[in-house]
Amino acid sequence: MKIFKDKHILQKEILKTKGTSFVPTMGGLHKGHISLIKQSKKSKFKTLVSIFVNPKQFNNKSDFRSYPRNTKKDIKLLKKLKIDYLYIPKFKDIYGFRPKNKVFLDKSSKKLCGKFRKGHFEGVLNVVNRFIEIIKPKYIFLGKKDYQQLYLIKKHIEKRKIKSKIIECKTIRENNGIACSSRNSNLSKSQMKIASNIFYYLKNLKKKIKKNYSLFKINRIKKDLINLGADKIDYLENFNTKDFKKIKKPNKKYSLFFAYYIKKVRLIDNI
Ligand code: PAF
Repeated sequence: MKIFKDKHILQKEILKTKGTSFVPTMGGLHKGHISLIKQSKKSKFKTLVSIFVNPKQFNNKSDFRSYPRNTKKDIKLLKKLKIDYLYIPKFKDIYGFRPKNKVFLDKSSKKLCGKFRKGHFEGVLNVVNRFIEIIKPKYIFLGKKDYQQLYLIKKHIEKRKIKSKIIECKTIRENNGIACSSRNSNLSKSQMKIASNIFYYLKNLKKKIKKNYSLFKINRIKKDLINLGADKIDYLENFNTKDFKKIKKPNKKYSLFFAYYIKKVRLIDNI
């Protein structure tokens, strides 16, 4: 595994290859990342993982500061996984140039997480657009846990006619049902249990509302989540996964999207 901190040196290396399969991360690697990397390694291209905690996608400073970081542990894991390249840029390497493509932000960026985390998706698209210009990856592997992010990156790529192909990967879950996330490491055991109970409650609810949509009473459900131990609920919505619009009846392919807090830890998922 070769480690790069400078985009020019990385670009020279990439030029010697047939191309890269890219797994962008903010570190704090977990089973979800490992699964993306394993899928990327099946491609005929070199696997490149980035670790960069992008300050521009955090809508509050304390969230940025408390975001789990453990680069030493991450490097050890990536070596074990035998990836080809690891890119750990500094802020200037990413933001010290003017990208050719302007970010395209689809209007659906105002919904769900976009409503509650002002500037978040602008920040995500900004950094992903820059990574794409630096790396020009053949493939980009992204998890469906962050479905809205995945949807918006796909829209940007389509609109700007970028050649990289997005590979959508299924959400990887802990044994207790909750979606793997770097933020889970900020949860105590008892908070994990709360998150797990909330996951199973909502999974069960989705089954019920498929049969009888009148059971989808948001305020009632929010109260139940608070009783289960959630401290605040940002949203709970059923969205069509193709056009990212709220559904009125469960006759389309849809997911139940939710975001809530346990103390200061914000968790998102879709089922
Ligand atoms: O999903 C993430 O970890 C980040 O949003 C990403 C795609 C690496 C951009 O910073």
